[in-house]
Amino acid sequence: MQSEADAPKSFHVAIIMDGNGRWGTRQGLSRADGHRAGAEAVRRCVEAAPGLGVTTLTLFAFSVANWRRPDPEVAALMSLFRAYLAADARRLVENGVRLSMLGRRDRLPPDLAAEVETVEAASAGGGRLSLRIAIDYSSREAIVAAARALGGAATLGGLERLIGEAGPVDLLIRTGGEKRLSDFLLWECAFAELWFTDRMWPEFDADDFGAAAADYRARVRTFGALPPKAGVLQPA
Ligand code: FPP
Repeated sequence: MQSEADAPKSFHVAIIMDGNGRWGTRQGLSRADGHRAGAEAVRRCVEAAPGLGVTTLTLFAFSVANWRRPDPEVAALMSLFRAYLAADARRLVENGVRLSMLGRRDRLPPDLAAEVETVEAASAGGGRLSLRIAIDYSSREAIVAAARALGGAATLGGLERLIGEAGPVDLLIRTGGEKRLSDFLLWECAFAELWFTDRMWPEFDADDFGAAAADYRARVRTFGALPPKAGVLQPA
């Protein structure tokens, strides 16, 4: 296991935590049990992230589209977010994790919104890992809101400041076998490296996270330019 001291250049990882429901059903459990097991995977990844060189971790916990799920599942998820914040706030602060929430807050149960604010304030000084949890989040809505705020003066830099304040995503991971972005961090993922796995989110562990990080580090990122040492274009 890599220590923080020799960890590679810091990077921003975003994760679409897919497969809780299927994992629960396949285990003969409920979908809500799958989400509960998913919360344990969140804990494992938050713990492993700094050692892998991850300085920002953005997790997709609930999309705007997820309100279309049956009421009991939505309620179970909201309770789980509340329980996670209540149970882990102290550990996050002690470990230098700064928590912030992306997405709309006005439709959340008021006690959850209040708990988010409390943990955000308590963990604001955390400098080891920025943990961003997206709840009631839509990337397209975030882009529209930023463009509206800038009006006719919208520029690449202005939008970058409003939408991408946490910096671009370097590595996007999606578990659960699907290969799509599902309206998550579309702007921030403009040049992200993508990594998909068939493992369901509750199965995802520090070794999987390490494998994704190692794969990312082995990639050559050119951002549209030529790879280093590719040489100068020879005349035809
Ligand atoms: C997608 O899997 C997952 C979600 C909609 C919820 C994500 C929530 C957690 C991982 C719970 C804990 C989160 C925190 C931040 C404590 P799915 O249920 O849609 O999977 P399926 O495709 O198998 O149905």
